[in-house]
Amino acid sequence: MVSFVTRFRYTFRMDKNDKFGYIFTITILLCSVLTSSCAQEVQRSKAPIASPDPIKIVLKTGSDSITAGRTLFMQKCSNCHYINNDEYFAGPSLRGILKNPLLPISKRPATPENIVRQMRHPYTDMPSFVFFSEDDLMNILAFLNSL
Ligand code: HEC
Repeated sequence: MVSFVTRFRYTFRMDKNDKFGYIFTITILLCSVLTSSCAQEVQRSKAPIASPDPIKIVLKTGSDSITAGRTLFMQKCSNCHYINNDEYFAGPSLRGILKNPLLPISKRPATPENIVRQMRHPYTDMPSFVFFSEDDLMNILAFLNSL
């Protein structure tokens, strides 16, 4: 305690009897602590109460997108997923995937957002397609939506 007071006095270059100096410094310290906690309070109250809705994907329906999606699907997905029957291949069939209420394995809602999520961060054993561009993703979705 003594050494703390000494160091405090040394830091603020104060005389032993300089009561004003002590009061002044302590007031300044208290003020800065108060203002910084107030600032935090303001910041916290500005934070959104609930996270905003994630951006909804609007599915493309143009034949260009569907054709590009089909090509990509044949290269990247067809060696594990059937689309013309409901059989499980190396992964579940994707026939009518966006028409069902739930995705087959994870049982998440069958939304474009959740299919993008599956391609980026697969549920379990599927390889990730995190390198797909936005266009690739939109085209694959357009194709899956056409099945
Ligand atoms: C190497 C095999 C393989 C490839 C390639 C593959 N998948 Fe999969 N897929 C799987 C497996 C296995 C599952 C089961 C869930 C899991 O393991 O994540 C699956 C599940 C899925 C599901 C359902 C996920 C759920 O939540 O139920 C979708 C949708 C899907 N794949 C889409 C695709 C698309 C689109 C492509 C091509 C870009 C693709 N997959 C490529 C193996 C594969």
